[in-house]
Amino acid sequence: MKTVKVAFFDTKPYDRQFFDEANRAFGYELTYFETRLTPVSARMAAGFDAVSAFVNDDVGAETIEELVRCGVKILAMRCAGYNNVNLAAAYGRILVMRVPGYSPYAVAEYALAMLQTLNRSLHRAYNRVRENNFSINGLIGFDLRGKTFGIIGTGKIGLVFAELLQGFGVRILAYDMFPNREAAERLHIEYVEPEKLYAESDIISLHCPLTPDNVHMINARTIGLMKKGVYIINTSRGKLIDTVALIEGLKSRKIGGAGLDVYEEESDYFFEDRSGYAIDDDVLARLMTFPNVLITSHQAFFTREAMTNIANVTLRNIEDCVENRELVNCICHQCDGNRACPGKTAGSPGCKGKKL
Ligand code: NAI
Repeated sequence: MKTVKVAFFDTKPYDRQFFDEANRAFGYELTYFETRLTPVSARMAAGFDAVSAFVNDDVGAETIEELVRCGVKILAMRCAGYNNVNLAAAYGRILVMRVPGYSPYAVAEYALAMLQTLNRSLHRAYNRVRENNFSINGLIGFDLRGKTFGIIGTGKIGLVFAELLQGFGVRILAYDMFPNREAAERLHIEYVEPEKLYAESDIISLHCPLTPDNVHMINARTIGLMKKGVYIINTSRGKLIDTVALIEGLKSRKIGGAGLDVYEEESDYFFEDRSGYAIDDDVLARLMTFPNVLITSHQAFFTREAMTNIANVTLRNIEDCVENRELVNCICHQCDGNRACPGKTAGSPGCKGKKL
């Protein structure tokens, strides 16, 4: 049988490490490109059966056009989110696969770590002590016990976050268009409308995907509804927050702290060593001046367990396509990642997203 050739874009040394290890069970021919996937670099995919891309690759209509022209049949996203993929352009022409829920624990645990780092000023304490400054002035935090959390999006990560909170003695509010009644009972979650969540939460953590409908869901209006001193944690996607409005909220002290693992214009900076360059993005530069803002470079997913799962599931997704098996992790603009998509059930008529 012909060897399956896979081109990886936007790769780093750690991608090679985990994918080479996982590939022992598959025997595919893997080629790693460091460059991002763009309409221009897509030409490098000529001769490959599958392309694997990541969160900041440009998988818009133009790129997909080029991939199709190059004969690529499978786009294997090695991440859970797929807001950067034009699913309508791919529909019926190239199979789009993703890795849902590779480790909800990695992201949920990280969200909690961000909150407590900020709340207890660990980032500042670390720097002080390194400079022989043992003063604790200004480092005061708050007990989590008795506080109200607002979780937006109670899918895999949001629910693990709620599970982690069980030991803290907190009240949990949540908003999701599809409330999970079983989880609500088990984890003592009260589903509410967004307005109530904004008004009553001391800490708001975002765990929903970015969609065309929720761009800038955290904006001047919604920040206006929030409690004074609210903490906002975003490990989902940067564009969920209007950063300029967030900065205004921080300046006016309405927002007590922000933990951001994602940023709406992150693609020029995140994952790269830019230490030798000035930052051109004035909004990011201003954000970095606040002592009560913790920014990290989209690393919530980055655990050994998650990387192992990402590599195994990405390659298995490709195998499912090649061997014409049920495509459990395929996405198209009809089903939009919906687990109940009839196209994913063996023996069903199948959706056009499956046809090559
Ligand atoms: P999931 O698909 O299991 O759950 C998402 C939930 O959000 C669903 O219950 C859905 O109904 C809900 N939802 C959708 N739109 C909403 C809206 N406008 N308001 C409220 N709820 C809404 O997804 P999962 O695995 O929990 O991941 C969530 C997001 O986390 C991903 O879409 C991705 O953007 C982000 N993520 C970030 C990572 C990082 O390293 N920072 C790593 C992995 C995921």
